[in-house]
Amino acid sequence: MSQIRTIVGLDIGTTKISAIIAEIEQGDEIPRLVGLGMVPSDGLRRGVVVDLEKTVRSIGKAISDAELMAGVNVDGIIAGISGDHIRSINSHGVIAVSRSDNEITHTDVERVIDAARAVAIPADREIVHVLPQDYVIDEQTGIKVPIGMSGVRLEAEVHIVTAASTAVRNIYRAIGRCEMDVEALVLESLASSYALLTDEEQELGIAVIDLGGGTTDIAVYYDGSIRHTSTLPLGGKSVTNDIAIGLRTPIEQAENIKKQHGAAIPSMVDANDMISVPGVGSRAARDISKNVLASIIGPRMEEILNLAHREVKKSNFPETLAAGIVLTGGGSLLAGTEELAEQIFDMPVKLGYPKGFDGLTDMANSPIHATAIGLIHYGIRHSDEVAKKSKTQGVFKKIEKWFNEHF
Ligand SMILES: Nc1ncnc2c1ncn2[C@@H]1O[C@H](COP(=O)(O)OP(=O)(O)OP(=O)(O)O)[C@@H](O)[C@H]1O
Ligand SMILES: [Mg+2]
Repeated sequence: MSQIRTIVGLDIGTTKISAIIAEIEQGDEIPRLVGLGMVPSDGLRRGVVVDLEKTVRSIGKAISDAELMAGVNVDGIIAGISGDHIRSINSHGVIAVSRSDNEITHTDVERVIDAARAVAIPADREIVHVLPQDYVIDEQTGIKVPIGMSGVRLEAEVHIVTAASTAVRNIYRAIGRCEMDVEALVLESLASSYALLTDEEQELGIAVIDLGGGTTDIAVYYDGSIRHTSTLPLGGKSVTNDIAIGLRTPIEQAENIKKQHGAAIPSMVDANDMISVPGVGSRAARDISKNVLASIIGPRMEEILNLAHREVKKSNFPETLAAGIVLTGGGSLLAGTEELAEQIFDMPVKLGYPKGFDGLTDMANSPIHATAIGLIHYGIRHSDEVAKKSKTQGVFKKIEKWFNEHF
């Protein structure tokens, strides 16, 4: 009988927390989604936990909804991390190959990665990922898999992602309070890439732009590796706030109006097309043109996409990102966003719907779910790392339990 593994992706977003449960047969690559729980996110600001109690409640609810749908109980999850505290740098390490016959081993690769990660990190930050980009053996550059090759000197280029330690700790604490283990903590934009990009696109050059509620996350790939990541403290919520102020209507109404009638490019909208806007408090509703609405939204979307463009350019991509731009996250659903991004980036742009899964295909088929599904893919592709981490956490838990019982 083949073994079935259960994997849970938990996307802790600024507007929603979503938990997706998947099952996968050993040796298979395509997970089957069996449970999805999504609740409005409470207690987070720009991707960072600011109210632990509320966050614990939201996470607990999202997971139990997903469990109910799936008819299983879960105890370990792959969690996403984002927020404007995330920083990333590229680094470099060099070692001498250890074996006398010069064959590069797994240990050499571990050593060179350790050498590359030995950069000064401020005391209040910690490393979330060390992602290998390329290896250099003696003078030969652009090597992806050095194990088994021959050389004297091994170098590694890596992309290091760091996060504020308090933000990391609060995620662990919130999930721990829900009596779950964190099997892996994954940068959200990296996770989304697992659900959106093919190997070929990463080779050609592509950028993922996740337009979330409180943040916009950027990840740039070329020559088959991640090259640059960044998070902007702006997103769909900024657009909604602008509408609430501009049209003097409550936030909740502004959000509905944006989703139903909003557009990122005013010239796309007929000035005679009218909508009714509810007033604040006892004020009467008013009719306004959709064109007026779009002229409130347009400048903010331009600002966000221009800042994202600046970040993409920082990655020093060779000439062009041949596979263009993938827009994902709820903000990408705003009408006209694809067209506006095409104007700003001057590259091909498409919407990022998550790929590579079975089960719940209708429910999960939205850019909103790219991160959670990507977290599941991460869990499948990095099963060794995930297993190791949950084992050590299990040991720590036992020690903690023993202490609590005896002291
Ligand atoms: N149909 C739509 N049209 C326009 N905007 C939309 C639509 N659907 C969702 N949004 C916007 O998408 C945003 C939420 O997206 P998403 O669920 O990806 O964010 P999140 O993951 O909670 O946040 P973050 O990634 O910043 O932590 C909200 O600002 C919402 O208004
Ligand atoms: Mg998100």
